[in-house]
Parts: sequence; C-alpha cells; structure tokens
Amino acid sequence: MTDYNEKDVPDQQGRTILVTGANTGIGWDTARVLAGRGARVLLGCRDESKAVEAMERISAIHPNADLKWIPLDLASLSSVASAAEVVRQESRLDVLINNAGVMIPPRTETADGFELQFGVNHLGHFALTGQVLPMLKDRDGARIVNVSSLAHRSGRIDYDDLQAEQQYDRMKRYQMSKFANILFTLELQRRLEASGSPAISVASHPGVSSTELGRYAPPMMSLLFLPLALFMSSSADGALPSLMAATSRDVSGGDYFGPAGFAEMRYSARKVDVIPHAKDESDARRLWDVSTELTGIEYNF
Ligand SMILES: NC(=O)c1ccc[n+]([C@@H]2O[C@H](COP(=O)([O-])OP(=O)(O)OC[C@H]3O[C@@H](n4cnc5c(N)ncnc54)[C@H](OP(=O)(O)O)[C@@H]3O)[C@@H](O)[C@H]2O)c1
Repeated sequence: MTDYNEKDVPDQQGRTILVTGANTGIGWDTARVLAGRGARVLLGCRDESKAVEAMERISAIHPNADLKWIPLDLASLSSVASAAEVVRQESRLDVLINNAGVMIPPRTETADGFELQFGVNHLGHFALTGQVLPMLKDRDGARIVNVSSLAHRSGRIDYDDLQAEQQYDRMKRYQMSKFANILFTLELQRRLEASGSPAISVASHPGVSSTELGRYAPPMMSLLFLPLALFMSSSADGALPSLMAATSRDVSGGDYFGPAGFAEMRYSARKVDVIPHAKDESDARRLWDVSTELTGIEYNF
C-alpha cells in the first residue's frame, strides 16, 4: 500500500464543502483538491480580489470546478453572521473545514475586542460553526474539521487574561488558540454524540508547511526559524491531513490527523494523538461556556 496522497481523496460529486482561509496556503490546496474531486467548494475569505484570484487559479487546473466565494472575516462577529447566512442559502453543506488562521501578530483586537489569534483562530470559528450547524447536524457523513497545530501541545487557556490585556506573548497566544481548536473539536464531538447527531467533529494539523503563516514573524524570529525551512513541506503536502480528516472513510468523531513523517512535521497523513491534557473535559466545557458568552452564539443540537 502506498502512503496517503491526493489521489486517495474519494469522489466528492454532490457534496458541498466550506473551507475558511481558502485563498492561500493549506486552505487553497485543500480547496483545489476537493474541487478537483467534484465537490462544490465554498471559499470563506475576507478579501474579494484574493478570493477571485484563488478561484481563477483552481479553475485553471480544474476547468469544471464549482466554486463560490463566501465573504468572511473571522475577526468580526457580524461578518461571520453574514457569511453563515449566505451559506445557509445553499441547498446543502456536507463539510466545514475551519482552516483560516493567524500566527504571532503584534497584539491586535478583532472588531469585537478579542485578541486577534484567539478571536480569529478559535472564537470566529466557534461562531461560524454554531451558525451553520443546522445544515450539518442531521446529515449522514457530515463533518467539521478544525485545523490545529503541533503548537497545541504547549497550549493552555489563560482564563484570567483571555484577551491578553495584562500580558501579550504572541507565541503563547498562538499556542493557546491552537489548543482551543482541540478542546473545541472534542467537546463538539461529545455534544454531537449526546444529541444523536450523525455528524462528526475531527481535527487535523499540517505539520510544518511553507505558507504565508509566518508573515508576522519579526526579522530575528524569522532568522531563528530559518533551519526549520529544511523540514518544511509544501502547502499541498500540508493539506493532506485536512483532506484525510474531511473525506477518508476510516474516520471517527474526535479523530486527529497529522503528517506521517518524522515528528509529524511533514509527509503524507495518518491518525495522530493530541496532547493528553487536551482531553480534559472540564477545561473543554469551560472554554465552551466562555466562547458562548463572548460570541453570543448558542448551539442548537
Ligand atoms: N503552515 C504551517 O506550517 C502550519 C502549521 C500548523 C498549523 N497551521 C494552521 O494551518 C492553517 C492554515 O494556515 P496556512 O499555513 O495556510 O497560513 P496562510 O498561508 O497564512 O493562510 C491563512 C489563511 O487564513 C486566512 N485568514 C487570516 N485571518 C483571517 C480572517 N480574519 N478572516 C478570514 N480569513 C482569515 C488568510 O486570509 P488572508 O490571505 O486574507 O490573510 C489565509 O487565507 C491555520 O489554521 C494555521 O494555524 C499551519
């Protein structure tokens, strides 16, 4: 048997898949492959020209690609609500891939006053998922995929300073947001299961891929990260764990996927493990309650 690659993505005809942050990097490659396998792909992106260009690049490879731009700025709850409204006009939604992300920016706030990384990477996706859940929760084969990171392993939720108003360590806050992705994935799975829903919640991480994610890295940090370039995969390779999570038949709720190579840094995809403390159910419930309170989004299962 060969290792998992793009060719293993099964036919997606008839399925509709929303990928956030699909204009570049891992999200774009995820969208490209899914469109090539026949899915209708909704690209949740904040910048119209980038979204149009991304769709043109996919259509150049797959002329029959069925693509639609969904205007979505995860740093604004009102934009998330509008995006969810547009998505709900679709006849169906099979998979939501919460891929968009921001890493180590200078401290910035979202339109709603959340620290940007927690706000975009976790709270924006929490709000989006809750508002499109009615389309997913009763559908056989429906999935929510949250794109986390190896960085989740060093994460913990700073409940005493959720918005980093007292202290802002940009890497710690990225780790916290990616840890939140895992807590959210597992808590959502428990709630879906308890409600008898056939939909499942899973997570993935791309290892270390060469994308635009490092755009905010200060010059000194970029220099320190230079040796990491040796181990980096392409964004196409980095998309494989997301593709496996979203489409493989051998997937159960709560599963987590990452690269199959050394230290989960690159190469192909396989099931991997989250850090044990990310399975803490009381922490996950607490984050859920806080996220509900901050976003005002109540999930209806
Ligand atoms: N690359 C890696 O090695 C790596 C490792 C671990 C985890 N990840 C995760 O993989 C995911 C994809 O990252 P990437 O490496 O592909 O990075 P990327 O090339 O920087 O792409 C990030 C995407 O997220 C979008 N985005 C950022 N802020 C947004 C917002 N407020 N609203 C809507 N979309 C927004 C970006 O849109 P714009 O172009 O408009 O900014 C872009 O489409 C992220 O969740 C990241 O944490 C990546």
